[in-house]
Amino acid sequence: MTDTERPIYITTPLYYVNDELHIGHATTTIYADTLARFWRSCGRPTLFLTGSDEHGQKIHKAATAAGTTPRGFADKIVGKFNELWQILDITHDIFIRTTDPFHESAVQRVFERLKENDLLYKSTYKALYCVDCETNYTEKDLVDGKCPVHKTAPQNVEEDNYFFKLSSFTDKLKSHIEANPDCIVPEPRKNEILGKLREGLNDTSVTRVQFDWGVQLPWEPKHVIWVWTDALVNYISALGWPDNDHLPTDDFEGRNRHAHATPEGKKPFEYWWPEAVHIVGKDILWHHSVIWWSELLGAGLNPPKQVFAHGWWQVEGDKMSKTLGNVIKPGEVADKYGRDALRYHVLREGPARGDADWRHAAFVTRYNADLANGLGNLVNRSLNMLNKYFDGLVPAEVAFEQPALEKLRHGLIARVNGMHAAVHTAIVAFDLDGALEAVWHLVREANQFVNESAPFKLAKDPARANDLAASMHALCEVVHALAYAVKPFLPDAADKIAHQFGIELDANLQDALAWGQVKAGHKIGTPAPLFVRLDEKVDG
Ligand code: MSP
Repeated sequence: MTDTERPIYITTPLYYVNDELHIGHATTTIYADTLARFWRSCGRPTLFLTGSDEHGQKIHKAATAAGTTPRGFADKIVGKFNELWQILDITHDIFIRTTDPFHESAVQRVFERLKENDLLYKSTYKALYCVDCETNYTEKDLVDGKCPVHKTAPQNVEEDNYFFKLSSFTDKLKSHIEANPDCIVPEPRKNEILGKLREGLNDTSVTRVQFDWGVQLPWEPKHVIWVWTDALVNYISALGWPDNDHLPTDDFEGRNRHAHATPEGKKPFEYWWPEAVHIVGKDILWHHSVIWWSELLGAGLNPPKQVFAHGWWQVEGDKMSKTLGNVIKPGEVADKYGRDALRYHVLREGPARGDADWRHAAFVTRYNADLANGLGNLVNRSLNMLNKYFDGLVPAEVAFEQPALEKLRHGLIARVNGMHAAVHTAIVAFDLDGALEAVWHLVREANQFVNESAPFKLAKDPARANDLAASMHALCEVVHALAYAVKPFLPDAADKIAHQFGIELDANLQDALAWGQVKAGHKIGTPAPLFVRLDEKVDG
């Protein structure tokens, strides 16, 4: 099977419903959405899940503070999640909520299996618990007595509850990771997890008795299941595990946004689960590898294929926080600059590999250089010249008479023909900036080609009619290729280019990214600027 025949199941974390989403959450989702769009345009069967994490102390606390019930609170915030995903045109197939009854019963089924496999025992839990992380820490993990992520003092918790024998998975996880070198990417993050495994795992508490906002333990309902071991199960409950033959969220009207293609006669869990790829931030990699995989192995199930853990945004050099008042709101950025501009900045400057700094000056500079002057100007001047010199009809392909220009044209041909492979390689490595860099190589070369072949000069000299046609034909091929190449990354720009060029973007990406796709005599539509230059003054 080639990798475009193999299915892929892409997931985002389920976001907590304690508050509205910020650029960090949008980043994880934009990464996942871009991957899903890329693989769909390659014809690969793709299922893309997102959703909401609604149980636990953190949500209970937020709802109580707002004077409402956790469920009522969650409904309101989930409405806002959906609004944001619509604003950003996120193409998830499934939206799951951890309060969905089918999910709650799958969580209980997992816990029954853990019990059957003798992996649970009762003991006294004494811990330092950070409600914001919904995670316990040891003294050693704390920084100046505070949670390393939220910088707040953890709660002292002491209660009798159930423990999960996490310690018995240390070796199994180590050998799984060693046998599957790409199961955690990027490499340094995998090494962090391996390092922690070398220190050995401690058993961990997986139920709580001091509040009741959660999934009840089937045989002792005064215990609710720890919110992480509850929420992680969504990745399989959404597929209908253990025995559903369709996606359970299909039963909720308006919940699933897109068509999804589990082949006839296959159960979604069997078809999609072996190809699961979790997209998460570095702060929750521990939960998505060590905790989750042990829970799966303990229930007799296989770990997902891969977890990709990205870094974190800072904002203008500071931690992003409500207290500092520097939280970047993705809906506002999209409203002001367009959602493609937001996506472009996230994909180019974002924390895919390491951490990143959201700097407004970089946003404006990149927008103007790459989108307005780069892609936008190239497409706009190419199509305007085609209208002017050829009445909007693509000329037949001819070679330049001038060898230097013919060499440049061959450069463009090679760039277009190599584009799919270059983008594909970068996407497989989750190198989203690298994928866009491959596309922008073509943008820059083509803009240079306009300057050097200078169709506006050729048009003034009837003896150069051949070279004018050579130049304009080449630019049409480039515009066609760029409409397809930017489609997974900048969906609105892709649609606009396609519309202005007079094509539908319905071909497979690999077939479309090849020189020679544009027919002589093709009539283009009406050109219009793609990105309006920003006038904002920025330093550096
Ligand atoms: N509810 C859990 C996930 C459960 S999955 C079964 C959770 N939710 S969350 O609402 O806190 O969202 C976490 C996601 O947001 C992570 O991918 C995290 O990395 C991302 N971000 C939160 N702040 C961030 C930044 N400042 N920068 C980049 N991403 C960050 O954890």
